[in-house]
Amino acid sequence: MKKYALVLAAGKGTRMRTELPKCAFPILKKPMISYIVENIEQSTIDDICVVVGHKKNVIEEILQNRVCYAEQLEQLGTGHAVLSAASQLEDKEGTTFILPGDMPLMEYPVMNKILRAHEEMGNDLTIVTMKLENPKGYGRIVRNEYGTVTGIIEENDCNESQKLIKEVNSSVYVVDNKLLFKYVKQIKKSDRKGEYYLTDIVTLMHQNHKINTFMLRDPMIGMGFNDLYGISIAEKYLRESINKGHMLNGVSIINPETVTIGHNVSIEEGVWIYPNTTIIGNTVLKRGCRVGPNSEIIDSTIHEFAEIRHSIVVDSEVGENTTVGPFAHLRGHASIGKNNRIGNFVEVKKSTTGEGTKAAHLSYIGDSTVGSRVNFGCGSVTVNYDGVKKNQTVIGDDVFVGCNVNLIAPISIGDNVFLAAGSTVTKDVPKGALAIARNKQINKEDYAKHFIKPKDDQK
Ligand code: UD1
Ligand code: CA
Repeated sequence: MKKYALVLAAGKGTRMRTELPKCAFPILKKPMISYIVENIEQSTIDDICVVVGHKKNVIEEILQNRVCYAEQLEQLGTGHAVLSAASQLEDKEGTTFILPGDMPLMEYPVMNKILRAHEEMGNDLTIVTMKLENPKGYGRIVRNEYGTVTGIIEENDCNESQKLIKEVNSSVYVVDNKLLFKYVKQIKKSDRKGEYYLTDIVTLMHQNHKINTFMLRDPMIGMGFNDLYGISIAEKYLRESINKGHMLNGVSIINPETVTIGHNVSIEEGVWIYPNTTIIGNTVLKRGCRVGPNSEIIDSTIHEFAEIRHSIVVDSEVGENTTVGPFAHLRGHASIGKNNRIGNFVEVKKSTTGEGTKAAHLSYIGDSTVGSRVNFGCGSVTVNYDGVKKNQTVIGDDVFVGCNVNLIAPISIGDNVFLAAGSTVTKDVPKGALAIARNKQINKEDYAKHFIKPKDDQK
């Protein structure tokens, strides 16, 4: 039997008080909805339908064509959101797994387990629940004297004794698809909020159909996060669980509560990560490299035994044994070779370097192809931008770039060239040459006194 996921992500998320819609809000720099969809993709579910409405283009921009969409034109509650997917799903035979778009911590093995339980128990409807010490804000699971679930009551509709119920609705359900649409159509508008509550299908179904609950052992994974305080709780939980996973795999993380590692980062054994460091996107840290403190690595690969300190590396690659920082910035597909040194206040953009190249201080290297064992003196710059377009610099092997040299691109420097300090180099330099491109110095004897009055004792 086919399995469908129906993710509800059309709500306004009023409690967030943010411009960004709730389900698009980032947790560890990745939108909440991406966690949900990624996990569904890895589960045994066949097709994914996402209900969008409020700021739907933001959600569609994130998920693109990985899912199909249903539109809820007016945000009239969770029951109404499901009904909005009727045109996509109504006729289908199968099982539907309903998830709210604000529950990012549930991973696919648990999803599979819930689906299996639903099947094995032969349920028509499975409600995923959890027990919370403080159930405030959640719908309460109401059972009759035999323990059968007869309804879900929202916090604001609970009487005093119902408020004491600790078993709550996670808003995750598995339900026979045909029955879902049959009963969702019968849901009436709530008097209090004027919304159609999906939770009402329980009351509608319990007499004629088999309803069971699946209780989550770890209540955190069923939590829905409705406001920015909730987001911080989700982030803390996720940070701890990701960091713990890496530490158990042989990664040393110093002060792990200050280290943020994204969901898709891959880290090999023997890596060291120091405080206040963020590593996100499709980043790979290879064996024995050291990252941090105070660094940010996004969508980059750091090879074996490289070191990144107090630096930012975006969309780039750092070779084996290379040291970067303090205060360096690699971006826009910088590819730094092995045994390089990229030091203080050096920026490298869209450039490659060979082996053993050094730019120890205050350099800009952009749109360049640099050979091996090149030395960039302090303050040297590849002048890549002429005000209209970006131009290329090519530098051979074993080149010495003196301090404060400007290389006006497009330009090509041969192997074994020596560029004298302070030169503004505008023409190509052939292999083995010394280039000096600066004014000759003139010394005027006994002339300085016209500018600096000599001190009395020196008269
Ligand atoms: C809901 C449940 C509650 C449960 C809680 C668990 C209902 C009536 N209540 O409450 O029992 O304990 O989740 O987290 O279902 N959405 C739409 N369209 C709408 C309204 C909401 O798509 O018109 C989406 C939201 O974007 C969100 C999800 O549905 O992703 C849940 O909505 P939310 O407003 O967060 O429901 P809760 O009040 O948390
Ligand atoms: Ca919610």
